[in-house]
Amino acid sequence: MPESPHSPALSDQLLAAARAIRAVLGGQSLSEALESSPAALRPAAQALSFHAMRRLGHARAVRERLVPRRPPERLVEALILLGLSLLEASLRQAEGADQPPGTPIYTAHTLVHQLVEAAAADRRTRPAKNLINAVLRRYGRERAALNAALADTPEAVWNHPGWWIDTVRTAWPDDWQTILTAADQAPPMALRANVRRIDRDTLQTRLNAAGLDARPAGADGLILGTPRPVRNIPGYTEGWWSVQDLSAQQAARLLPLQDGMRVLDACAAPGGKTAHLLERHTLRLTALDSDAQRLGRVGENLQRLGLESPDVCLRCADAARPGDWWDGQPYEAILADVPCTASGVVRRHPDIRWLRRADDLARTAESQAGIVDALWPLLAPGGHLLYATCSIFPQEGEWQIAAFLDRHPEARRMPAPGHILPGNPDDGDGFYFALLRKPA
Ligand SMILES: C[S@@+](CC[C@H](N)C(=O)[O-])C[C@H]1O[C@@H](n2cnc3c(N)ncnc32)[C@H](O)[C@@H]1O
Repeated sequence: MPESPHSPALSDQLLAAARAIRAVLGGQSLSEALESSPAALRPAAQALSFHAMRRLGHARAVRERLVPRRPPERLVEALILLGLSLLEASLRQAEGADQPPGTPIYTAHTLVHQLVEAAAADRRTRPAKNLINAVLRRYGRERAALNAALADTPEAVWNHPGWWIDTVRTAWPDDWQTILTAADQAPPMALRANVRRIDRDTLQTRLNAAGLDARPAGADGLILGTPRPVRNIPGYTEGWWSVQDLSAQQAARLLPLQDGMRVLDACAAPGGKTAHLLERHTLRLTALDSDAQRLGRVGENLQRLGLESPDVCLRCADAARPGDWWDGQPYEAILADVPCTASGVVRRHPDIRWLRRADDLARTAESQAGIVDALWPLLAPGGHLLYATCSIFPQEGEWQIAAFLDRHPEARRMPAPGHILPGNPDDGDGFYFALLRKPA
């Protein structure tokens, strides 16, 4: 963690992280929970809680052995889980096992001391400060035996829920370990040049001149050596670039488009792909989303990037019910970036795996089928529909499209990447693309 004379005390950082972890244990998303952290503590709370999410399976299994009855106060449990995840990384590092870049490392003594201080600072955890101290010290003493006993517990080894591990192993028998390992690495920060304002090479030159390590990646993107807050990167307000993962950047090039086409972006918010389509072509485009608040962000993004136009219309509606909003004019191209489990973006949202339930997958796949079936009749003869999800589960990708082709034998499958599985730290997120053409 970067320390400066003005850094908040480590115990305050730990307590802020534990509060965010507590919220996730209660079912809230980590990004929402972190928004409640005081601004000065947020970067540290994020780094610490992301680390805990990536080690939660192991920490929880250890906690279950050392404190078999779950502490009734969730904040106590959160502090224990955070402490165990940090202690494990620090002790492994001390043994010479390299930890992934960015792992927060402290000496065991500092950690235990600061976690007890953190517990003392909140009335909900104060009565448990001796328990927290005892659990962490015992883990330090008995760690080798405890870890050996957990070597056959998949959740502890792979830090994902059992159903998730089984789903990945069944779908990708040769790659499941690489996929699960990659899910615990910090992802690269990728930018997409807004070619209406600046080309990618000029953007790279300007960022390099400002001291940023930016290098080309993908067709339109740059990867930053070190992630930074967006406002600390030159050109944000000028709309030179957007933050967008490299896999997501493929969508706009996969959909065959020409200037003047009538296009539907059916699940558009917050507008990353909408903007990319409009940067590359002048279109008559409808950006649809069922979430009014998220749709507002599409408008903000188009404004920042200089892409607003009378030919671009934002519409809050349900893509699965075109009877409510479609004017009867066919679209020459449709992007269906459907809602999904987000299993492909766990590197960026390490809490997702703990928030999803096994039956979410069947529910999400059913809703995706409803959306794509409803959109298909809106496509003009000769038009293309690009189906996209940020999921690595075939239920939301390959199997979904195979079932669609059974229901719509007239649809033609065109070349597209299919499943993208992240393996290396510089890879894009897990994604799935299928391109379908309606015969003329
Ligand atoms: C994967 S996100 C889209 C990301 C977006 N295409 C981008 O690149 O920034 C899926 C979106 O679908 C929206 N959504 C979910 N169900 C929907 C429905 N039935 N109709 C329209 N939009 C829906 C969600 O609100 C969410 O914004």
